[in-house]
Formats: sequence, structure tokens, C-alpha cells
Amino acid sequence: MTISKKMSEFLEQGSWIRRMFEDGIELKKKFGPENVFDLSLGNPIFSPPDVLYEEMKKLIENPDKSAHRYMPNAGLDSTREKVAEFLTATTNHNFITENILMTGGAGGALNVALKSILDPGDEVIYFTPFFPEYYFYTDNHAGISKIIDSNDEFIPDLESFDNSINNKTKAVIINSPNNPSGVVYDKNFYQKFSKILQKHEMILGREIFVISDEPYRRILFDGLECPNILDFHDNTIVASSFSKDLAIPGERIGYIGLSPKIKNKSLLMDGLVFSNRVLGFVNAPAFMQRAISNILFNTVDVDEYLTRRNYLCEELLKLGYDFVKPKGAFYLFPKSPIEDDISFTKILKENKVLVVPGSGFGKKGYFRISFCVDWDSIKGSISGFERSINSIS
Ligand SMILES: Cc1ncc(COP(=O)(O)O)c(C=O)c1O
Repeated sequence: MTISKKMSEFLEQGSWIRRMFEDGIELKKKFGPENVFDLSLGNPIFSPPDVLYEEMKKLIENPDKSAHRYMPNAGLDSTREKVAEFLTATTNHNFITENILMTGGAGGALNVALKSILDPGDEVIYFTPFFPEYYFYTDNHAGISKIIDSNDEFIPDLESFDNSINNKTKAVIINSPNNPSGVVYDKNFYQKFSKILQKHEMILGREIFVISDEPYRRILFDGLECPNILDFHDNTIVASSFSKDLAIPGERIGYIGLSPKIKNKSLLMDGLVFSNRVLGFVNAPAFMQRAISNILFNTVDVDEYLTRRNYLCEELLKLGYDFVKPKGAFYLFPKSPIEDDISFTKILKENKVLVVPGSGFGKKGYFRISFCVDWDSIKGSISGFERSINSIS
């Protein structure tokens, strides 16, 4: 045995995702990459906005030799201050520098937050369909995942949520706009959701944290506003990144913002800073902290995603696929035309279209299409979608 039993189990659990990835590589080798339509990854193909390169250029042309050293584990004060200003402007909540921690992406932020608040056996609730890493991140910090289902519109079942909270419940992770459904929770949902949390906080006599995982917050369609959990629940930890909205996931830059309304924030902040250090992140990448700090209000062109969403929705509807139109992020999560989503994704693969089964997101009977890809992949996939649905009806 060279790896832990647990790791062997995790590898086994995720093996079909890996197999799909490997099969995709095989398919591309066999038929040529231009004949395989890979809509499986949430890896934006767009270039980051030009202003990012201008900022990087300025940093390189005016080198500060001390800028590559270790720094306080929370990050550069100058960047944290800018992020606090950005959050204050975009949320109307008064964030201050001291309550911002720069992280290695949203994934880093989630791990830092969970490490800081979980004792072994504490429960973390999240809702289907979910970003698969939540399960592993929770396990990283000896937490127990408690997964609550959602309805056909992908709105969490609040009655089950209410019944699932107990004295082990430490945190709830929410993700809106959602990967993989594209759903954006509305105010009505947050009102009911926060009422349940307040009731249980009263009973428990302590806080239940909401960790709001929001890397897609600025990828919204049809002029929609994304209501903010900060308006509804005081004990909120915002975890976000620039991976998606600046299209720089490889640069690993994100942040945590603590709601100004959390009590005893400085103790929580001490925990977050320590976690960032001992998880081995030490601090978020120094160069990227400096590169993004003046362009926080910029994003990639969201219309590029909108036109892709509209095209795919129109074409797939004509073919008879059933789905909830995404309101944000860059995924579509249709119902599998057959019950077994894994089998259907295999049929799609035979027709040279690569997508991810809903089972991977805790929601069997669906599959995820990622539309943060080039037009050739999107347009080229349609005939494969057509052959696949026709082959089973
Ligand atoms: C819902 C969600 N949360 C977190 C992440 C991780 O983002 P990052 O690359 O910023 O760590 C992703 C990435 O796909 C995601 O979809």
C-alpha cells in the first residue's frame, strides 16, 4: 500500500470522471481534436481583459525587488484594502481591510474557511447539484458532508434543510450562480433560508456560518441582479476568486471577505490567517495580488457567454432536451433523456461530445454542459446531441 485507504477510495469514487477525461484524450488522438467536441471542463477559453496585461506590464517595467518576498499570511495590505473597497461598493456592506484574506483561488478560500471553523465530526451542509470538491474539502478538515436535495428547478428543499440542522451543524455552503445548474437564488429563497438559520442559531446559542462560494457572481445574464446572502444572514463568509470572471484560474488568486456583521471577527480572522499558513498556501501569489488590485471592477465580456447560452438553449430545445435555462455562470444542466446519466454521457461520447454526468454533482439523471468553450466546439457538438437523443427515442 503506497497511498492511504481513504485516498484509494476517493480515487475509485472519482474514477469515471478521470476515465472520461482519459477517453477524451484518446478520442481526440483517434479522430483529431477538431472532430471531438469537449464541453466537459469549466476552464474559460477567453483571454483575460487587456487591462490585466497592462497592469502586469507596469509591474514588470517598474520592478520592485522586494515584491517577491514572504509577506503577512493574510496578503498585501494594499490589495486587501482594494478588495475591501470593491466588496463595499458591490454589496453595500462596510468591509474593512482587516476582514479580507487573499487566497489561492476560491478553492483555497473554501479550505481555509473550513479548516478555521470545523472540529472533527462537525457537519457541513450543501445542496445538490454541487461542486464535487465540497465533499473532499469538507473531508480535508475532518468534517462530515450533509447533502440536501433540490427540486426540479434546482432550488434547495428547505424543509429537509430545516430538519437536517442539529448540534453538529457548523456551516452551510451555498453557490449562486451555481455550478453546474446556472441557477441564481432569489430574495424569496434567501428570506426563507435565513429564517431557518436564525431559528437554529437561537436554539443552538451559537452561529451557523454560511460560506458563500461565489466565483460566478459577476457572470449573470438578462440584466439579472444576484441577491446577496450578506443582506440576510450575518454570519457569512464570502469565498470568491477571479478564476472565472477574469478568466485566470491558473493564476490561483481569490479572497475571503468576512461579513462586517460577524461577531468576534478578529478571532475568526486569526484562524483564517493561521490556516492559510499551515495549509501550505502561506500567502496568495504575490505578483497576482499586485496585478489585480487596480482592476477589480473589470471582467471578461459576459456577452460572450450569453450568446453561447442562447445558442445552445435554442438548439437543444429544438432537439427535445429538457432543461432550466441558466441565469448565470457558464453551464447548462439538462435532464438526461434516459434515467442513467452515466450511460447517456457514454452515448454522447460515442457521438464525440464530451460532457459530465450529473451523478458527479450529486444529481443523478442530469448532465453538465460547459459553454465556456470556443464556438467551433459548441456548434460542432449539436449534431452529436441530435444523434444521441435520436438513438434512444
Ligand atoms: C462552484 C465553484 N467553486 C469553487 C471553484 C474553485 O475555483 P478556483 O479556481 O478559484 O479555486 C470552482 C471552480 O470550478 C467552482 O465551480
